[in-house]
Amino acid sequence: MIYNCDLPCSFFLSLLSVLGSSVVFIQQPHDLVVVAGQPVTLPCSITGYHGMVLWVKDGLALGVNRDMSGYPRYDVIGDHSKGEYHLLIQRTELTDDGSFECQAIQAATRSRPARLTVLVPPDDPVIIGAPVVSLRAGDSLNLTCHADNAKPAASIIWIRNGEVLNGAAYTKTLLRDGRRESTVSTLHISASNIESGQQITCRASNKAAPNGKEATVTIDIQHFPLVNLSVEPQPVLEGNLVKFNCAAKANPPVTHYRWAKRGNMITDATGDTYEVLVDHSFFTEPVSCEVTNALGSTNISRNVDVYFGPRLAAEPHSLQVDRGSDAVFSCAWIGNPSLTIVWMKRGHGVVLSNENTLTLKGVRQEDAGKYVCRAVVPRVGVGEKEVTLTVNGPPTISSTQTQQALYGEKGQIKCFIRSTPPPDRIAWSWKETVLESGTSGRYTVETVSTEDGVISTLTMNFAIYHCVFIQLCK
Ligand SMILES: *[C@@H]1O[C@H](CO)[C@@H](O)[C@H](O)[C@H]1NC(C)=O
Ligand SMILES: *[C@@H]1O[C@H](CO)[C@@H](O)[C@H](O)[C@H]1NC(C)=O
Ligand SMILES: *[C@@H]1O[C@H](CO)[C@@H](O)[C@H](O)[C@H]1NC(C)=O
Repeated sequence: MIYNCDLPCSFFLSLLSVLGSSVVFIQQPHDLVVVAGQPVTLPCSITGYHGMVLWVKDGLALGVNRDMSGYPRYDVIGDHSKGEYHLLIQRTELTDDGSFECQAIQAATRSRPARLTVLVPPDDPVIIGAPVVSLRAGDSLNLTCHADNAKPAASIIWIRNGEVLNGAAYTKTLLRDGRRESTVSTLHISASNIESGQQITCRASNKAAPNGKEATVTIDIQHFPLVNLSVEPQPVLEGNLVKFNCAAKANPPVTHYRWAKRGNMITDATGDTYEVLVDHSFFTEPVSCEVTNALGSTNISRNVDVYFGPRLAAEPHSLQVDRGSDAVFSCAWIGNPSLTIVWMKRGHGVVLSNENTLTLKGVRQEDAGKYVCRAVVPRVGVGEKEVTLTVNGPPTISSTQTQQALYGEKGQIKCFIRSTPPPDRIAWSWKETVLESGTSGRYTVETVSTEDGVISTLTMNFAIYHCVFIQLCK
């Protein structure tokens, strides 16, 4: 039976109800809102009527009196004798949504239509990628959460640390049943505004679920190893133990450590520490620690502040220069902490220079000798290097002008020649005779080289002779 009233029919029924004035609705169904799954009762009480009572939904007859046999969740309840025909709907479903009327058929009277609205909470929201969303450091994050099958459509908010995050964009889609909707919300978070380990919650709510339903995701930011390389103790005296500590933070975790010194692998160090007795090389050759995780490697190096005594970096060389020209010596040392350099002439306490170079201008014969380049690292050590300055020039001859000998004995005249370079020839002469070496008659010449010069001795009878020196110029 379909009691579908169009306008004239409706008018006719109303007219009848006015005419049959003894039939009165004490209670009529009214608009109701119910959450799916809950029971609901649509009231209907009629006095002065003993005929059939019919419930109609959206123009479709449900059943007469208590007979709701086609609708197992529907019951007509109340005291019939008092004219009560309330419609009880158990476990409401979305299909119960509609317009209901209670009709007193024989009296041709009907209640006003009552709208039953069934609300449906959203399904549990789902964040794409949950429970953990990984991203690389520096990347921004887009989170998507959907809450489906809700009536009315769920609204979605995003929450972090108890605060609502603004700026999410959402879309709604109506389902095929024409009643429920699904909501999708997308949240964009810039790289600077996000930290690893943070939890972000998507909360979906509608009238059927006013407290909302939540889903939470944990943010996992992956990055290259962040490394600190420390050296203890520092400064340290050469020969002592030093510990390198390579502290790394990495996500995903560190897979391995490698150590090197000036590019050469240190194979016996494989963990995050390296212990070694340091020498001066650690001052100039950095030790590096390379930390690797699944994303890549980070390599950090450190030099050690090793204290060490002077070590020669550029050796000074002995010089041979002509008289009157300049002599320039240079030497270079390294040491730590900073060293001082002192140039001195051996045997003289005078400091000639505190630079790497020592310049002697217009050297004279007396400048010849040994020079010392000395380096001092205070409280750590001293180093020293000696060089010789040789000055080229005419020889100097020393001999007493007059030497005496007893008559009848041998007489000797000694002649001392200091010369750089050494003399090419030494000759003795008297009257027309010239003797360089060996014996001639009663005369003998002997020449002996010493460290300081050459001594030439003429052995003879009584007479006075002159020692003559001849140098061939270079
Ligand atoms: C996130 O979404 C924005 C648009 O909202 C887009 O420009 C950007 O490329 C997306 N980023 C990622 C990592 O998907
Ligand atoms: C490196 O040292 C800094 C300053 O001491 C510290 O803030 C940082 O957390 C350290 N990083 C690592 C990976 O240990
Ligand atoms: C770290 O980098 C330096 C310079 O590129 C390199 O010499 C060294 O071998 C590297 N260290 C490791 C442990 O690979």
